[in-house]
Amino acid sequence: MVLSFTHGIILGFAAGFILVLVILNESSYSLSFVSRFTKINLYQRSNIRRMINTSYDDNQVFVFPDECPLVRAYLDVVRDTVCGLALRTREHTFGYDNQIHPMDINQRIKGLDWPLIGVTMIGQKRLINIEWALRFVIANEVSGDFIECGVWRGGSSIFARAVLKALNNKDKHVWLADSFQGLPKARTKNDNDNWSKMEYLKVSLEEVQENFRSFNLLDNHVHFCKGYFVDSLPRCNISQIAVLRMDGDMYESTMDQLFNLYSKLQLGGVIIIDDYAITECKRAIHDFRSWHNITDKIQLIPGDQIGRYWIKGQNIEVQRNRYIPLISSTKHYTQ
Ligand SMILES: C[S@@+](CC[C@H](N)C(=O)[O-])C[C@H]1O[C@@H](n2cnc3c(N)ncnc32)[C@H](O)[C@@H]1O
Ligand SMILES: *[C@@H]1O[C@H](CO)[C@@H](O)[C@H](O)[C@H]1NC(C)=O
Ligand SMILES: *[C@@H]1O[C@H](CO)[C@@H](O)[C@H](O)[C@H]1NC(C)=O
Ligand SMILES: *[C@@H]1O[C@H](CO)[C@@H](O)[C@H](O)[C@H]1NC(C)=O
Ligand SMILES: *[C@@H]1O[C@H](CO)[C@@H](O)[C@H](O)[C@H]1NC(C)=O
Repeated sequence: MVLSFTHGIILGFAAGFILVLVILNESSYSLSFVSRFTKINLYQRSNIRRMINTSYDDNQVFVFPDECPLVRAYLDVVRDTVCGLALRTREHTFGYDNQIHPMDINQRIKGLDWPLIGVTMIGQKRLINIEWALRFVIANEVSGDFIECGVWRGGSSIFARAVLKALNNKDKHVWLADSFQGLPKARTKNDNDNWSKMEYLKVSLEEVQENFRSFNLLDNHVHFCKGYFVDSLPRCNISQIAVLRMDGDMYESTMDQLFNLYSKLQLGGVIIIDDYAITECKRAIHDFRSWHNITDKIQLIPGDQIGRYWIKGQNIEVQRNRYIPLISSTKHYTQ
């Protein structure tokens, strides 16, 4: 095709106009991303503009442009396998009455039942939230690792490792902190001893490692901090945290995590509270936030009723004097 001079000029202008539109669109996209999540300018890093916003289910997952489509397929399979959904009618629920019941898929999606075979009880929606959080910190170049405190059979940490591996992330490690023998007795009157009696919640380190191996995901990027949080977390050799996932049910377990780990959570990092629906856990969250004047917005997890998260937008100085009464073995109440 031969173009006249005029045609050339018009085409040139049109191409330039489209280019300007694309640039404007990209920058407004990144700006709306910023305002939607937080005020701090950390999110203005340029690589956010390389991301594509796709809507996955009722959650938004940010997909990297160089990502192989099989990543999505692989993560869908791992996610629905660790929570037992993929097993469908072969999976069952371990009832609070100690009896085995057929699984209700809608309960499992929201993590409202106890799996018989599945290796995580958090359900599909909170697993999606883990993937979202990891993609969020990678996209925003938040340094540090993923840690879950309270891992049970390890399934949600297995999924976290799968996400990082599938995204070919080499620098983020996965840490699992647990007693690997269930919940402790109460140290203070903030909790009771009921949790410590639940045999179903006692899972050994060896069993968790075996679960990792069955997904071929036990490698040198996976670390374990064994012991009751009050002793193990001060010794846990994690230096920077990008995603802190808290799942220890009790007031004291939640406080042990916050006092020992919150200062390691990087700005722009994500803190996930699995047990916000449990009165003691919720109270610990609100006590810690008010003692430290934390105002970062507590967010709902789409499709889920139990969990919450927030993005760390302000550094605080941890008030250790508030923790001392919680460590001592004499039973007293903090308030
Ligand atoms: C509800 S389960 C965690 C569920 C798990 N996140 C999942 O994906 O299925 C609670 C876990 O927290 C652990 N845990 C609670 N409080 C603890 C503490 N103070 N020290 C150590 N482990 C604790 C228990 O051993 C148990 O494995
Ligand atoms: C991302 O996609 C969702 C769903 O299509 C849309 O509601 C939202 O506004 C988009 N966000 C941005 C920053 O483009
Ligand atoms: C502990 O468990 C017992 C027996 O299941 C129950 O009666 C009691 O109310 C529980 N205590 C608390 C404080 O929840
Ligand atoms: C703890 O971490 C540091 C820095 O990552 C490392 O040099 C050291 O060997 C680790 N110590 C243990 C006991 O794992
Ligand atoms: C929290 O805010 C109050 C009121 O402004 C102030 O008195 C207190 O020192 C603050 N606490 C911390 C830990 O920043």
